[in-house]
Amino acid sequence: MNHQQFIEEQIAYIRETVGEEIAVNALSGGVDSSVVTVLGHRALGNRFKTFFIDNALMREGEPERVVRMFANMGIFVGLVNARAEFLGNLKGLTDPEEKRNAITDTFYAKVFAKIVRDLGARFLLHGTILTDIEETVAGIKRQHNILAQLGIDPEQEYGYQVLEPLKTLRKDGVRQVARILELPSKITERIPFPGPALATRIVGEVTAERLDTIREATKIVEEELRDSSAFQYLAVLLNDKATGIRNNEREFGHIVVVRCIDSVDARTATPVELSWDKLHRLCERITHIKGVNRCLYDLTPKPPATVEYI
Ligand code: XMP
Repeated sequence: MNHQQFIEEQIAYIRETVGEEIAVNALSGGVDSSVVTVLGHRALGNRFKTFFIDNALMREGEPERVVRMFANMGIFVGLVNARAEFLGNLKGLTDPEEKRNAITDTFYAKVFAKIVRDLGARFLLHGTILTDIEETVAGIKRQHNILAQLGIDPEQEYGYQVLEPLKTLRKDGVRQVARILELPSKITERIPFPGPALATRIVGEVTAERLDTIREATKIVEEELRDSSAFQYLAVLLNDKATGIRNNEREFGHIVVVRCIDSVDARTATPVELSWDKLHRLCERITHIKGVNRCLYDLTPKPPATVEYI
């Protein structure tokens, strides 16, 4: 399909559906929600309101960086601090689906429902793509952003209608649309980062302290592998501990996994053959993080593994 034509069709679709009402969206800084942000603003002008929800699960400095990047494009993004709500609802949860559900619920029913109510908005624009729908329908995973496909009626449940202008595209298609919309390469070429953010990389309970550990490991992995040209790279905190030695004392420490994969559209993936030098450097830096005494490299392709750990 012609992507220019796709853009025009979606802008017309958003305009027609929203009419004179107000629509909102949540921006994460990923290519999907960034494209939706630009399409919404082109379609509705200032009747379209964009928010960045700080859910405590983002990478270091991410909320401020994303808001700044869009300000430079002339698009105002409201920064909403919902850290306590998300952490409160994740407290004590260890089951992957329960954690995902808690994030979905906090996002849609609590934080977004309030924003929508306060603004009197009737529509939420969401960056769901085809792969999200396929994997959710196949029962592989509950993506946080699928509602209709799960039989949830957002209008009845949360009081607003959800539009998904990208639902016929895969990631490569979204990137092409993003380039046509002249989004900065920091966005169009950014490696995929999941909606539930660092929660997908913490096995077991998501706490502020465990988030700090994985945030630091993520920063190291992203710095070290930025030039790898891999499809995606990430760090994972396991829900287990291992004995180690630090300063001549036994330490029962955290285990961090590094994952670096090649893929076209994340439906299948193969691990990247990193050099020993690179692996040693990653291991050395990661085991300098407070309380972390093991670093493992994940050799598992998808399938049987998925990319993320929850
Ligand atoms: P999995 O772990 O399912 O990941 O093999 C496939 C791709 O999707 C990303 N991913 C998500 N993206 N919301 C998203 O927006 C999610 O809930 C989600 N879960 C996984 C993952 O990073 C990979 O690129």
